[in-house]
Amino acid sequence: MMIHTLSTQINKIILLEINMSENIKKEIENRRTFAIISHPDAGKTTLTEKFLLYGGAINTAGSVKGKANSKYAVSDWMDIEKERGISVTSSALQFQYDGYCINILDTPGHQDFSEDTYRTLMAADSAVMVIDASKGVEAQTIKLFKVCVMRHIPIFTFINKMDLEARDPYELLEEIENVLGIKTCPMNWPIGSGKQFKGVYDRGTKKISMFQAVSVGGAKSAAETTYDIEDVAFQQEIGEDLYEQLAEDVELLDGASEPFDQELVDKGELSPVFFGSALTTFGVETFLEHFLKMTESPLPRMSDAGLINPVEEEFSGFIFKIQANMNKAHHDRIAFMRICSGKFDATKDIYHVQSGRKMKLSRPQQIMAQDRKVIDEAYAGDVMGVFDPGVFSIGDTICMPGKKFAYEGIPTFAPEHFCRLVALDSMKRKQFMKGVTQIAQEGAIQIFQDYNLEMSEIIVGVVGVLQFDVLKYRMENEYGCDVRLDPLPYTHIRWVKDPATDLNSLKCPSDTKKVKDMKGNPLILFSNEWSIRMTLERNEGLEFEEFWKN
Ligand code: G4P
Repeated sequence: MMIHTLSTQINKIILLEINMSENIKKEIENRRTFAIISHPDAGKTTLTEKFLLYGGAINTAGSVKGKANSKYAVSDWMDIEKERGISVTSSALQFQYDGYCINILDTPGHQDFSEDTYRTLMAADSAVMVIDASKGVEAQTIKLFKVCVMRHIPIFTFINKMDLEARDPYELLEEIENVLGIKTCPMNWPIGSGKQFKGVYDRGTKKISMFQAVSVGGAKSAAETTYDIEDVAFQQEIGEDLYEQLAEDVELLDGASEPFDQELVDKGELSPVFFGSALTTFGVETFLEHFLKMTESPLPRMSDAGLINPVEEEFSGFIFKIQANMNKAHHDRIAFMRICSGKFDATKDIYHVQSGRKMKLSRPQQIMAQDRKVIDEAYAGDVMGVFDPGVFSIGDTICMPGKKFAYEGIPTFAPEHFCRLVALDSMKRKQFMKGVTQIAQEGAIQIFQDYNLEMSEIIVGVVGVLQFDVLKYRMENEYGCDVRLDPLPYTHIRWVKDPATDLNSLKCPSDTKKVKDMKGNPLILFSNEWSIRMTLERNEGLEFEEFWKN
């Protein structure tokens, strides 16, 4: 009898565990985690907002936090950053849509553009590239796109602002293919643009969605009338010229454009392209629906112990961003973690691989649409912010005690602005070095020294110029060191692929400078692209890297 009771209990426990792991599996499989990349003003914030409207996460447009902040003057920065020190607003938004749990990662642009923007892409499983139809591929998109390509993640294109005068759609596709080097597959096709914008033709369903401008405020979705391409009413509605043009386009696209190939999409070699207008909510829901069908739930990630399966492995993740709190009184920092496997349970201890320490993660937070909330659980695919007791570094792995693997590190990305950092009080050399080294370790700046001279000048490199102000402010306020930043004329830096190369043996144009990073890796500073090409030509076999994996 006793044996029978015991075995029933064991069965119950086993059943409970199976159910639990089934639940975890379901939660993970429903997740999609993507970043939106674009050049400032292409419509990234507007599109994000419309996604949230569809997900029911917000009720009115114009309420996505960060938008108001995205165009602030440099002088406002310190206050904003103080606020942000304890918020995860600028990092990830989560919402539910049609049974999916969607995490959108923000890639800040404008003055806020920094190395963090690149690092965020390391936490995404796919990317949505928003392009302004009147402008085409712009500088910041190119930079962010390169990181997506390095990661081989799927890239979806949303050609926005079709309600305004747009460039020829063929020309836009050609530009994407030529400038970015990715094949494109238009999923829908625009009928006119600007005042003449009539709607889009869906190449899959062969149906037309007619464009109707709606009030842009709280409208959840634009009223869309759907027609069959053969429909006489539709032909009359758009007029003969546009109809003929469309018929020609359809024939041309079916005959000449790249066929849809999910495998190529998965590898990031083919980008499905959608035309629409985020502001008027046209084409947004169709895009979201196609996107969700064409993307996968979190995929296995590479570690030094091989691929880690998100569903089978217990909780693990990595830190991709650290935000220092500007509040002088407490040097709090927030670390942002991408969960890569299993379920995070706030009541359980975790293991920080790099320090070898067991700990509980303090006040884990997540953003649900607009609300920041302390969470007690999260799943693979999610991003959360945790208070950093000063032990985390970018790229660190967190897993369950007893496990010992480390995820592949996060590369360092080439800065584009350089200054010589000078301590105004030479007596404070020690604090100066401590400050600059610590700030560099957080990943906000990179520091370099002359290749041949030890203890020489410090050269600071940043991805976005605002970081110079942050550095000056923090050096003065946190480390008590008054500093001066003397701008340097360099705009490019490259790591020498073979770190054993002796830079002194290289022939470089006069407007270059040979430096090394804090780990002793050799790099060269250049004033322009021409100078990079020249150096490569003059030194046979020399190779450069734009991203550096230590
Ligand atoms: P970003 O996050 O990529 O920087 O761009 P954001 O969404 O802030 O959009 C930049 C500007 O473009 C905004 O106008 C926005 O309203 C407008 N916009 C975005 N999508 C569309 C679209 O599909 N059609 C049209 N016509 N405009 C679009 P703004 O005047 O700079 O800002 P706001 O005053 O409207 O906030």
